[in-house]
Amino acid sequence: QLILDTLDTQGSIADTRSLVVPGTSHAATSHDAQLAILGALNSLLSREMVTYETNEVISHALTAEGAQIANEGSHEARVWSVLPLKGQGEPINPGQLKKEVGDETAKVGQGRAFKNGWIGKEGAGLVKLVAEIKDITQLDLKEIEQTGNLSSGEKVLADLRKRKLIAQKKGQWFAVMKGANFSTSIAKPETDLTADMLTSGSWKTSTYKKYNFEAEGIPTSGGALHPLLKVREEIRNNFLEMGFCEMPTQSFVESGFWCFDALFVPQQHPARDLQDTFYLSDPSHSLPPQEAYYDRVKTVHVDGGFGSAGYRAPWQPEESSKLLLRTHTTASSAHMLYKLAAKCRGEDIEDDTKEFTHGAASTKDANDKTTAKVDGFRPAKLFSIDRVFRNETMDATHLAEFHQVEGVVADRNLTLADLIGFMRVFFSKMGIEQVRFKPAYNPYTEASLHIFSFSYDMLILDQPSLEIFAFHPMLNKWVEVGNSGMFRPEMLEPMGFPKDVRVHGWGLSLERPTMIRYGINNIRTLVGHKTSIENIENSPAVMF
Ligand code: PHE
Repeated sequence: QLILDTLDTQGSIADTRSLVVPGTSHAATSHDAQLAILGALNSLLSREMVTYETNEVISHALTAEGAQIANEGSHEARVWSVLPLKGQGEPINPGQLKKEVGDETAKVGQGRAFKNGWIGKEGAGLVKLVAEIKDITQLDLKEIEQTGNLSSGEKVLADLRKRKLIAQKKGQWFAVMKGANFSTSIAKPETDLTADMLTSGSWKTSTYKKYNFEAEGIPTSGGALHPLLKVREEIRNNFLEMGFCEMPTQSFVESGFWCFDALFVPQQHPARDLQDTFYLSDPSHSLPPQEAYYDRVKTVHVDGGFGSAGYRAPWQPEESSKLLLRTHTTASSAHMLYKLAAKCRGEDIEDDTKEFTHGAASTKDANDKTTAKVDGFRPAKLFSIDRVFRNETMDATHLAEFHQVEGVVADRNLTLADLIGFMRVFFSKMGIEQVRFKPAYNPYTEASLHIFSFSYDMLILDQPSLEIFAFHPMLNKWVEVGNSGMFRPEMLEPMGFPKDVRVHGWGLSLERPTMIRYGINNIRTLVGHKTSIENIENSPAVMF
């Protein structure tokens, strides 16, 4: 208001140091006063009520000791003030003086008071020699405190600086002119147009706060991919680099037939129990699969075939048609493999697998012209990364739903060695170099390899399922990272694949490598309502 009023009467302010601090009689020459003025100027500037120019100046400010002297007087004045006037009282000895004014003041003050001729000795004590003094140091410091400068000049300022009573400060002062919206009253400018302003028409006469394009604004919070999405993307790219095609996996609901029967999982297998699998109540049953295939699958289960004795256990069509939430994406793989085998069966079903296969002949055929087949089989490398559901007891590492990474390779004469070699490449692409394989059991991956040799008529080598273990350097132990195997002939041959077509596959969870990568030891901090978006955004792994 002072600035506006001064501008109103004087037209402009040549030097803001000439303004008189409201409520006092001294000019606004101090550092702090100019800072306060600057704040006011900027707020008036944003309303275009003033414009101003900045000038720099060296000013002086009191140190803590200087401020004390400005308040209480110099050391020498304090020494002088406690002494009796010569001849008018008991002289004070130096020990007593220290007690009265403190060690420091007594020490510094005595010398200066002597030099100024203010005090003298009488016997062993000290007395005042003059009745009145002028404490120049205090007066000078008071002047500096108020004006930031000293009229008596640079020599005294230099002395005070040497005594560490003042310090130099870069200061500013301002020349102020009226702005486009100058007025003597500060109307609060509008910051926003409101519906009320539009209906009342007050928007026409309101003043508006100028938009500050220089303002830094609120930091925007960038999005962050969920760790599962990041790792899924990475694994997907690894698959694509190795020439894999992604399978469609949108059907979370499958029938018992595709999830289990087609994979030669016996109808009595415990994995099919209510305790392990979520069944649908409405609708509860699927439409029947293609009849001929259904019959072949049923036959291999009940009576055997394709070199297998079968399970010779009862078969219930009801078990086959039950709808469930898929417990593994191998159900989707089964659909794809079934379609892939269509050509070989010579059946005329809609073939939408072309984009998933690799030419008409397998790589092995290309090397061995004599075994070139005309059965229509096309090799394929397929993968999927999608959600599966299991009725698990939930704990730190298990949820009722998780993501499964699945890979399937179909080609002629593949062996377990191909699978192992492939696994090493696959896991090394994920940064896992040390892998070990342990024989395990899967109902659908227990193939035998028939080798014909000169020394033996025929060797039948059992090709077990393999659990895959990776060495975890942080935990310093081997942890299970996946499950794999060669699909059984009982699964592949009813589909219609030629006998020499082998399919190997493997599956792993997406959550486990993600937890290892992000150093998460409780799955619930990764998935579900306890996931902290903030932690994820701030996780260094998000940046890579
Ligand atoms: N379906 C298996 C699982 O859920 C993984 C797997 C896929 C194993 C393909 C072998 C072949 O663990």
